[in-house]
Amino acid sequence: MPRNLSQTRALFEKAKRFIPRGVNSNFRYWGEEDTLVMRRGAGAYVWDADDNCYVDYRLAFGPIILGHADSRVADRVSEAIRSGTLFAWTTPLEIDVAERITRMTGVDKVRLSNSGTEATMHALRIARAYTGRERFLKFEGQYHGMHDYVLFSTASSPLGALGSPRSPINARTSSGIPHAIDQYVINLPFNDLERLEEVVEACGHELAAVMVEPILGNAAGIMPRPGWLEKIRELCDRYGIVLIFDEVKTGFRIANGGAQEYFGVRADLVTYAKAMGNGFPIAAIGGRDEVMDILEQGGVAHGGTFAGNVVGTAAAAATLEILETEPVIETIFRRGRELMAGVGEILGRAGLPHYITGVPSMFSFILGVEEEPRDFRAYCRGDDALYERLAMALIDRGVMPDSDGREPWFLCYAHDERVIARTLEVFEQAVKAVK
Ligand SMILES: Cc1ncc(COP(=O)(O)O)c(C=O)c1O
Repeated sequence: MPRNLSQTRALFEKAKRFIPRGVNSNFRYWGEEDTLVMRRGAGAYVWDADDNCYVDYRLAFGPIILGHADSRVADRVSEAIRSGTLFAWTTPLEIDVAERITRMTGVDKVRLSNSGTEATMHALRIARAYTGRERFLKFEGQYHGMHDYVLFSTASSPLGALGSPRSPINARTSSGIPHAIDQYVINLPFNDLERLEEVVEACGHELAAVMVEPILGNAAGIMPRPGWLEKIRELCDRYGIVLIFDEVKTGFRIANGGAQEYFGVRADLVTYAKAMGNGFPIAAIGGRDEVMDILEQGGVAHGGTFAGNVVGTAAAAATLEILETEPVIETIFRRGRELMAGVGEILGRAGLPHYITGVPSMFSFILGVEEEPRDFRAYCRGDDALYERLAMALIDRGVMPDSDGREPWFLCYAHDERVIARTLEVFEQAVKAVK
C-alpha cells in the first residue's frame, strides 16, 4: 500500500510559501513529489509528518552517531543551558571538549566552530597564513562546504564539466562565485598518484594546502588506494605544504581518532563537525602546534559569535565522553559489516553488477560497475538512475538511505541487530521490485 503523505504534502506546500523550494539546504530538495517533512526521530528511526516510520540511514548526512534524540546528550545540553548559552568568554565546557579532542585524535590544539563549512574555511585561511601562499589543491568529487573557495569540481559537478583527467577543469558548482577565485584552486582526480606527483612537482612551492577527504564521503565513500594518503603526506613535507584532512564526515565516525587513526597518516590540520555533537551544531579545527601557533601570534582572523556556544559544546562533551567510554564505533562496525555483506549477497543473487564502497559506519554501493572505483569519475559511470529507483523503493517500504547514490549509508549505535535484519528483508523486496 502506498504511504499516506497528505500532511507531509500540505506542510511542504506551506513551506514553499515562505522558504525557497521549501527547504533550508538545497540538498534536501528531492523534487515536488518526494521532498519530505520530518517530525521526529528516536534511535535509528525517523517519522514524517504523516507518522510514517523509517529506519534512517541518512542520519542527517552523517552527524547522528549515537542515535536520534539520545537522552544522555539531550540531558547534558538541557542541564547546561539552564545556566546560560553564550558568554563570549571561554567556558570550562570548551576546555573539556578541546582536551578530549586532543586526547582522542592526537591533534595538539583546537579551535571550535559551528559547522563544517566554517571549519574548512578557517583551516584554509590558517594554512595560507602559515605558508604565505595562496593556491591550494583539492580532489574531484570532494565537498568541503559552502564557502566560495571550495565550490569547484564537487560531487555535484557533472562528469562532462570536469575536462580530461590529464588536464582537469575547475567546474564551478554554483553561480555567484567570482571568476577570479578559480585561479586559487587546483582539482585533481582522487587516487591518481602519478598526476598528483607531476602537479605538485610543478607548482608545490605555490601551494598553501592540500585539502583532502581521506575517504570520498561525498562520492559513495570511495576509499583511498594503499599509499595514496602517505604519498600526499610525503609531497606536503617535501614542499612545505599544509596537509588538511577534512574529517567532517570521517571524524568520530570511522574511529575515535578519525581517518588519522584509521589510516595511520597524520595531517597538519584537521576539520571536524558532524558526528562530534550527535546532531547538534558544533565543529572544530585541530592541528599541530606549529601550524596552530599562527593563531597565537595574532593577525590571523578566526572568530564567530557562536563559536564554543554552550548548546553545541555541551552536546560535544556528552557525545565524545560516550565515544571514549563505550565501544560505539566498534559496535557500529560489527553491525555495518553484516549489513554490507547482506546487501552484497542480495545484489549478487539478483545478478545486479555492483561494487561496495566505504567502511561499515559509512558505506555505499555503486550499481552497474564491478571494478573498484578509484575516483569521482568512476562513480559517475555507475547507474545512478537504478540506484535512485532502488532507494525510493526502500523508502516506500520504510528504510531510508539517501536517494542520491553519492551520499553513503550512515550507521549509528542505535542500529541494532534487529534493525539490520529488518533492513535486509526490505532490501531484498526492494531489489525484486526494481529489477
Ligand atoms: C567532507 C565535508 N566537509 C565539509 C562539509 C560542510 O559541512 P557543513 O554542512 O556542516 O557546513 C561537509 C558537509 O557535508 C562535508 O561532507
